[in-house]
Amino acid sequence: MTRTDNDTWDLASSVGATATLVAAARAAASREHEPLIDDPFAEPLVRAVGIDFFTKMASGDLPAPDDQTAVGVTRMTDNMAVRTKFFDEFFLGAAEAGVRQVVILASGLDSRAYRLDWPAGMVVYEIDQPDVIAFKTQTLAEQGAVPTCDRRPVAMDLRNDWAAALREAGFDPQAPTAWSAEGLLGYLPPDAQDRLLDSITDLSAPGSRVAIDTAPPIAPDEQEQTRESMRTHADKWREQGVDLDFGALVYLGERHEPSAYLADHGWRTRSTSVNELLTAGGRAALDDDEPMGKLYYLSAIYGGAR
Ligand SMILES: C[S@@+](CC[C@H](N)C(=O)[O-])C[C@H]1O[C@@H](n2cnc3c(N)ncnc32)[C@H](O)[C@@H]1O
Repeated sequence: MTRTDNDTWDLASSVGATATLVAAARAAASREHEPLIDDPFAEPLVRAVGIDFFTKMASGDLPAPDDQTAVGVTRMTDNMAVRTKFFDEFFLGAAEAGVRQVVILASGLDSRAYRLDWPAGMVVYEIDQPDVIAFKTQTLAEQGAVPTCDRRPVAMDLRNDWAAALREAGFDPQAPTAWSAEGLLGYLPPDAQDRLLDSITDLSAPGSRVAIDTAPPIAPDEQEQTRESMRTHADKWREQGVDLDFGALVYLGERHEPSAYLADHGWRTRSTSVNELLTAGGRAALDDDEPMGKLYYLSAIYGGAR
């Protein structure tokens, strides 16, 4: 399925299925012997979506190690363990510094509004497409889950005017905010990424923070080769009964590097490579040549000088 300007999805299709995949990896990471994270909501959410391979992955029931290796389950699980830990620590650090307003952009099946130990008075906005927001809200309510903060879902496409919808939901631009864009940027066209980062800056009071995971842009002469290897990977997913073709879902074209872009707009930034996080978490480092090995995590604090 190719992307279009106003495409929509649920958690079993298109970009939505990637949210279910990462939640399955969070569930798998939470089941490990010495886990780096604990997300008790990931497995029931994935189970409710109903994609067989992801359900088995989330519940530790994948039978054949070969099937797991083909689509890279172990690497995904390690990556999600350190990624989740990174963003958890980012939010808890912001809360400790006195921030009381959080915006989770592209919240997917993220359960931080239900599982983190937020201080009193914390307001957490979650933005994602309407079907994604509705599914998580309803499924967790049916599970008896109760948010540990004042959770305010905002059903909105992030290519559209989400800032207005956020304000309507009560967002206060005068108060410092902790923002996250986790597993998002590659699914946005380059101009929508710029608009997203501009809106974050416009809505940020001094002292606001943002955390983002991203990868370096792929040079034009490497794009076809990258798409080809994504197509091969999609074939492996198809053999497991999953329709997931990252090559058709992401925008590979040139885009601004988010850390430099934010630095140009008044943010003090800091980057950490995925291999630094994996090594610190006692997980195997990735080969720099493979796409996942190029991921990095940035966090930034807004100084207010635009
Ligand atoms: C890989 S998932 C990550 C979900 C979540 N941040 C996590 O890490 O579990 C990508 C998410 O981005 C959301 N997303 C991508 N493009 C979007 C858009 N234009 N508007 C709203 N949500 C979008 C998808 O719906 C999906 O939930």
